Amino acid sequence: MLRSKIGGIGYYVPDWVVTNDDLTKVMDTTDEWIQERTGIQERRYAPKFQETTSTLGAKAAAIAIERAGIRKEDVDFIIFATLSPDYYFPGCGVLVQRELGITSTEVGALDIRNQCSGFVYGLSIADQFVRTGMYKNVLLIGAELHSMGLDFTTRGRNVTVIFGDGAGAVVVQPTEKEGQGVLTTKLHSDGTYAEKLAFINPGCHGGYHSKKMGEEVDFGYPDAEYGEMFLTQHMIDNGMTYPNMEGQFVFKMAVQKFPEVIMEALNETGNSPADIDLLVPHQANLRISQFVQKRLRLRDDQVWNNIQKYGNTTAGSVPIALCEAWEAGKVKEGDLICLAAFGSGFTWASALLRW
Ligand code: COA
Repeated sequence: MLRSKIGGIGYYVPDWVVTNDDLTKVMDTTDEWIQERTGIQERRYAPKFQETTSTLGAKAAAIAIERAGIRKEDVDFIIFATLSPDYYFPGCGVLVQRELGITSTEVGALDIRNQCSGFVYGLSIADQFVRTGMYKNVLLIGAELHSMGLDFTTRGRNVTVIFGDGAGAVVVQPTEKEGQGVLTTKLHSDGTYAEKLAFINPGCHGGYHSKKMGEEVDFGYPDAEYGEMFLTQHMIDNGMTYPNMEGQFVFKMAVQKFPEVIMEALNETGNSPADIDLLVPHQANLRISQFVQKRLRLRDDQVWNNIQKYGNTTAGSVPIALCEAWEAGKVKEGDLICLAAFGSGFTWASALLRW
């Protein structure tokens, strides 16, 4: 039976290191608060006007393509996961195609909007295409350039200190080797709490969802004419064009859903937590990863964490962490690797791979 495997992997983070102390210069926060609550020590920001989400993705992709032993011309499908695209439209898939110089119009490009679980969702899509024999070299990228869209005042401190920029990429290819490849992927969603972690404005909602929920929430339309509703002056003046997060609510959901979705993948494939060689969780918060590790009774050497260095890079976080672990020799042929993610939507997902 045809299965899919990760044939090449790469990551790229910008050189600019922003420490917690750097952030204390622009907002009321402390290194101690950030480290204690999140584990984050520093994150990377892309230099202004020099990088975009798609250029970060292209740099990671070029490494993945080379390591997969293929030429860029061999890529037959592109999947790009991000919540911070260069443009509202078109998506980063076609921009990365252009950036990499892939000129063939036989290549399809798909953009997905699954935030923190975007990479694992993307892997599931790539897996389906490869298993059916439709594509042989699917380039899957998860990338974020958060630093351009965060609120660098004290008002935004609960969100801003968490996020960083970076990209990871893989080439998903067919394998017929017994037991190797993606064993299963598990995808979930629950739209009930969509606004608990959301970047609401600009958008085409017109306040609809808040009215429906019966909440008296200002969604930014006091005097807007119909054609002006996408982005109003009121939104800009009142700092309503930044991400919004109810941190404690998100935390509680995350620590419940991560173990659930990991166990689901393990149970389906007849494995237990002890069989995992490496769990690569989405890097949301070190406290969340530690909770998951404890719940599943995993040893330290079974879990890869790098949020200390990069913060939460959303769609980039799982492939960056996986690539770093691979480069460190922690992901070897025959290893059972578990990827898991939870984030805005809410959406959550896991993947189990035999490397
Ligand atoms: N620096 C200093 N103080 C801060 C701060 C910052 N960066 N951000 C918030 N605070 C303050 C708050 O204003 C609040 O002050 P108050 O008690 O005077 O009102 C206090 O710290 C506690 O805020 P709270 O939001 O309850 O903190 P917390 O312990 O829940 O930690 C998060 C906040 C965001 C770190 C935590 O909730 C979290 O990590 N949640 C999950 C987020 C996540 O994973 N998101 C991505 C999902 S993929």
